Amino acid sequence: MSVDFGPAGIPFMTEKEYNETFETHKSSCSPSAWNPRAWGRKRWTGALLGISVIVAAVVVPLTVVMANQYPSYQRLEYSLVDIYSGERFFDSFDYGNGTEATHGFTNYVTKDGAEWSNLTYATSNEAIIRVLPRDHTGAAGRPTIKILSKQRYTHGLFIFDIGHVSYGCGTWPAIWMSDTDLDIWPSHGEIDIIESVNQGNKGTQFTLHTTNGCEMSVKRKQTGKVLSNNCLNSTNYNMGCAVRGAPDSYGEELNKNQGGVYAMEWRTAGIRMWFFPRNRIPSSISIGKPEPSEWGIATADFPSTKCDINSHFKNHKLIINISLCGDWAGAPSVYNEEYGCQMECTEYVGSMPEAFKDAYWSINSIKVYKAPNS
Ligand SMILES: *[C@@H]1O[C@H](CO)[C@@H](O)[C@H](O)[C@H]1NC(C)=O
Ligand SMILES: *[C@@H]1O[C@H](CO)[C@@H](O)[C@H](O)[C@H]1NC(C)=O
Ligand SMILES: *[C@@H]1O[C@H](CO)[C@@H](O)[C@H](O)[C@H]1NC(C)=O
Ligand SMILES: *[C@@H]1O[C@H](CO)[C@@H](O)[C@H](O)[C@H]1NC(C)=O
Repeated sequence: MSVDFGPAGIPFMTEKEYNETFETHKSSCSPSAWNPRAWGRKRWTGALLGISVIVAAVVVPLTVVMANQYPSYQRLEYSLVDIYSGERFFDSFDYGNGTEATHGFTNYVTKDGAEWSNLTYATSNEAIIRVLPRDHTGAAGRPTIKILSKQRYTHGLFIFDIGHVSYGCGTWPAIWMSDTDLDIWPSHGEIDIIESVNQGNKGTQFTLHTTNGCEMSVKRKQTGKVLSNNCLNSTNYNMGCAVRGAPDSYGEELNKNQGGVYAMEWRTAGIRMWFFPRNRIPSSISIGKPEPSEWGIATADFPSTKCDINSHFKNHKLIINISLCGDWAGAPSVYNEEYGCQMECTEYVGSMPEAFKDAYWSINSIKVYKAPNS
C-alpha cells in the first residue's frame, strides 16, 4: 500500500479528515496527560528535556563510534597473476592517442611512431617511456606517450618497481588505473598511484576520483598529508581526494637513489598505497611474496568507511602517460608561481627540447597479485 505524503513529508489529510480522526480518537485519551494541546509550560519543558537527554544519550556515543569506525584489513592470501617486464613489456599495452580531457599540450603517438622515434623502448630489465627530447614541428604539442593495459582489473595488489620517474617543467606524469571509456568515467572510479607535476620535488600524490558518495573524512592510518577529502570529481575542480607523500617520494632525489617501489592494494575494505625508497623495500616484495600486513602504516589510506569501494571502483586498465601542461601542470599559479618554471607552459614545451632529458619513466616491473575473498 502506498501513502500519499504532503509537502513536508506528513501524510496528507484534508482539514475535515483531520478533525474527524481527531474526534474519533480524542475520547480514548485523558485530555490533559496525553494531549499535548492541553499541556502547560511545565509539562512541555519536562518533555523537551526528556527528549534532549534521550537524543544526547544516543547521538553522542554514536558519533564516537562512527569516528572510530575502521575496516578490518585482515591478511589475504595473494598469488601472482600478471608480470609486466622484459623485452615484451609493450605487447601488453595499447597506445592512446587523441586529445585529453585535462587539456594537455600533448601529441600521444601510435605504437609505430613510438618505436620509430624510440619513445618506448624495452630491454630485459627495464621499459623506457619518454617525451621526445628533440626538435619537432607541429602545433598539436610535443610527442609523448600514453599506454593502457589490455588486461582489466578489479581488486588486487599492484607492485610498481620504478627505476626512474619522469620530471621537468611542463610535465605531468602519472601511473594510474581507471576505466577511461568515454561516457563511463568516473562511474568506475580512478586510482592515481603515482602522479606529479613539473620538477616533482614536492612528493607524489595518491588520489581517488569518483562519482558521488565517497568521502575520506573518517579515521585513517597513513603517513601522508591529506590535501582533500571528497573524492567526487565535480568538487575542487576534479582534485579528487588526494594524499601527498614525502618530498623524497618523487623527482630528482628519488632517481639518484635508483627509484623505489610503489604498492597499491585494492580490496573491499579499502584502498591503501605505500611508497618505499630503494633501500627500504620490504623483503616480502623482493622475494615476490608481498605481504601488506607486514608493511606498517600505509603512505595513503582510503578506507571503505564512507565509501563503498566495490560500487565506486571496477574494471580498470593500468595507464601510464606523460602529459604536458594542461589543467594542473600548466596552470600559471602552479607552473610559474609554485614551481618557478619559465615562460608560458606550452611555449616552453614547444620550444625547449633539451628540457625533456629527464622526462622519462624507467620501469623495472609491474607485478599484479590477486587474493580470494578480497
Ligand atoms: C586512436 O585510438 C583509437 C581507440 O583505441 C583507435 O580506434 C584509433 O584507430 C587510433 N587512431 C590512430 C590514428 O591510431
Ligand atoms: C594523462 O595523465 C594525466 C595525469 O594523470 C591525466 O590528467 C590526463 O587526463 C591523462 N591523459 C589521458 C589522455 O588520459
Ligand atoms: C633508444 O633508447 C634506448 C634507451 O635510452 C637507448 O639505449 C637506445 O640506444 C635508443 N635507440 C636508438 C635507435 O636511438
Ligand atoms: C564529473 O563527472 C561527470 C559525469 O559523472 C561529468 O559530467 C563532469 O563533467 C565531471 N566534472 C569534472 C569537473 O570532471
